[in-house]
Amino acid sequence: MSEETVTATFDVYRFEPGKDAAPRYDRYVLDLPPHTPVLTALLKVRAEIDPSLTLRYSCRSAICGSCAMQINSKSRLACEAAIGPELERDGRIVIEPMRNQPVLRDLVVDQESFWRNYSKIEPHLILDPRHPMPEGRENPMTPEEVDRFKETPRCIACAACYSACPAVEADPAFPGPMALAKLFRFVVDPRDQAHQDRLVRIQTDGLWLCLRCHLCTEACPKDVRPSERIRDLKEMAIAAQGATEHGSRHAVGFKENIRERGQLNEMKLARQTFGPIGLLAQAPQGIRIWRKKPELLRAPHPIEGQDEVEKIYEALDNGKTKEDLP
Ligand code: FES
Repeated sequence: MSEETVTATFDVYRFEPGKDAAPRYDRYVLDLPPHTPVLTALLKVRAEIDPSLTLRYSCRSAICGSCAMQINSKSRLACEAAIGPELERDGRIVIEPMRNQPVLRDLVVDQESFWRNYSKIEPHLILDPRHPMPEGRENPMTPEEVDRFKETPRCIACAACYSACPAVEADPAFPGPMALAKLFRFVVDPRDQAHQDRLVRIQTDGLWLCLRCHLCTEACPKDVRPSERIRDLKEMAIAAQGATEHGSRHAVGFKENIRERGQLNEMKLARQTFGPIGLLAQAPQGIRIWRKKPELLRAPHPIEGQDEVEKIYEALDNGKTKEDLP
């Protein structure tokens, strides 16, 4: 009995910098079973239609992280994404290289910035030479201590999060979700003796450039949830050092604003974020807002049900989590 197949149309990004004047999309049409991984389809194209198609892969089992690419505009592992659901949703499959990294050829990108950002966070335990481990012994941790970073070892460094991240695109100073998730792993490791320094340094090394869009968490094929680890780092950085940067002052001010009135007082928040002197530099932006939406610059009235907001804050202050709230 022959296996059921679907006719799949692939539009594949092709570009060789230095040779091609501009990128193009080559179309390939194949009959394949719907459970076929995108990577298998691309390898069939390369084997049977166009041997010049260039892509990166290794394990074909969602382990090595080599085959990440844009599949219908989402950063995915090509060996994991089946063609059936993609065709059902979009009618065709558009394959492009990962974003935020220059293309070397076709679907292969230069990952230099991704790995440079990773090495900058010093992804290894930093031990205090004054307190060496006892000779011949390991430095054991309790299961509870290991549990604190149980998600991050799942990371396979595929860079899908880096590709999906608008903060990486907007500012090269942002280390990227994977580097920050890995940093979290060392900050909460009780054996690491540099965690305070790490927290202080990352405050000025791009931590607050995260936009909280959660696209990294959506893209991560291993459920590392980098945006949650970045949120944890921000909370720990404020606890360790106070609100010393624009980003941390903005976060603290935002929280205070909502507690006071249930909605933002934009003018007050700008003052809290930039300080009275820094606010002067924001004057051109303020004038633009005043011309278009002057109501944004007035202190808002407390919202109806403000007392409910206060109860939420009190519960959180008393150590309750959002799961405990009614
Ligand atoms: S080929 Fe290894 S993760 Fe896809």
